[in-house]
Amino acid sequence: MSWRVRTEPLPGEPPLTIPGDPYSVVVLLRGYSEPQGAGGAQRADGSVTLVLPRAWRPPGARGQPPAGPDAAAALAQAGSGPVLVDTGGPWARDALLAALAAQRVGPDAVSLVVGTHGHSDHVGSLGLFPRAALLVGHDLCLPGGLYLPHGLSEACPLRLGPGLEVWATPGHAGRGDVSVAVAGTALGTVVAAGDVFEREDDGDTWRGLSEDPVAQERSRQRVLAAADVVVPGHGGPFRVFREP
Ligand SMILES: [Fe+2]
Repeated sequence: MSWRVRTEPLPGEPPLTIPGDPYSVVVLLRGYSEPQGAGGAQRADGSVTLVLPRAWRPPGARGQPPAGPDAAAALAQAGSGPVLVDTGGPWARDALLAALAAQRVGPDAVSLVVGTHGHSDHVGSLGLFPRAALLVGHDLCLPGGLYLPHGLSEACPLRLGPGLEVWATPGHAGRGDVSVAVAGTALGTVVAAGDVFEREDDGDTWRGLSEDPVAQERSRQRVLAAADVVVPGHGGPFRVFREP
């Protein structure tokens, strides 16, 4: 079945909450990318998204990833608390902490930070979360620097919880890009896709920023086939409609 895909911006300003069960999604910070002068410089920062389990309640909740060496168990425990998708750049540190505080989530309560790829405008504040498990690209690390093997591939997502998955979506930064998919929200499936999409309606502009445009096109089609809402790396979230 082939679909005609239509997109439109999701109205609202951050913090933009999409309620859901078992997970809600909050777009904490909206990424942007703006040309500066005529020399090709860009002022940019990445979007930051929070996935909040319905069952999680502040205060006192604190991410406690297990010390054991099993990646599936570690990811399941990490997914039971607040999950942050990207952190923005280090210059957004204070804005990030304020946005988390507005959700009543302290940095020590974040149980998992997923970095969609290793660029400074997406993982510039990992240092705020020493108690969280980190999944940056395909590197899964527990607090203290315990790196765990896992089976993530395009054919094999990592499961964090019911309807909450990490997908391998290569292309923008090479082979290691990942996205976070959250099923069961009020708007359907939300995918925080990093720079798989620069923004809604990014046309062909993403190709010039892509390490592997062939893989990225495949990743984009995968996301558009499944997502009802996409959080792109450098713009506001947008809805996806598939029409026969
Ligand atoms: Fe980016």
